[in-house]
Amino acid sequence: MSEDLNIAEGSKTEQYTSLLPQIKALIGAEPDGIANLANIAAALKEQFGWLWVGFYLVKDGELVVGPFQGPVACTRIRKGRGVCGTCWAEGKTLIVPDVAAFPGHIACSSLSRSEIVVPIRAGGEIVGVLDADSAEGNAFDEEDARWLEEMVKYIPGVNVE
Ligand code: SME
Repeated sequence: MSEDLNIAEGSKTEQYTSLLPQIKALIGAEPDGIANLANIAAALKEQFGWLWVGFYLVKDGELVVGPFQGPVACTRIRKGRGVCGTCWAEGKTLIVPDVAAFPGHIACSSLSRSEIVVPIRAGGEIVGVLDADSAEGNAFDEEDARWLEEMVKYIPGVNVE
């Protein structure tokens, strides 16, 4: 099976409509969580060219960086800290059009201008977050939130709701 991603051009809707079935096929029935998160991060990076995209996973009461694509990032984030820790604490997707205006934003890269963080649930618990950063301001909106919330449900063993 070819692992090449078919990169779509066009509107956000067209890009996500093309990408999500490919991600679904890519992770398929693979039970290994790290393998799947790594391929999802790579697919999102290839399609959208975001500055940083990847996962933070809840481990021993903290978020610990998981598979990602982009510049090196901070390793651990406490609950309620930064955009990721706030997403975890509040249990909802956060869209940050201007990271400089978000109190407590953790600047893993000085090039980041906007960000979206989506919670990942398993059995009602938040087990991690998907984080995407863009070098452009105001890059993410409710449409990204809807697609990415749908996408994290594909991760086998992660979402059971
Ligand atoms: N900006 C995030 C930290 C993670 S990096 O962007 C990869 C935050 O404020 O939680």
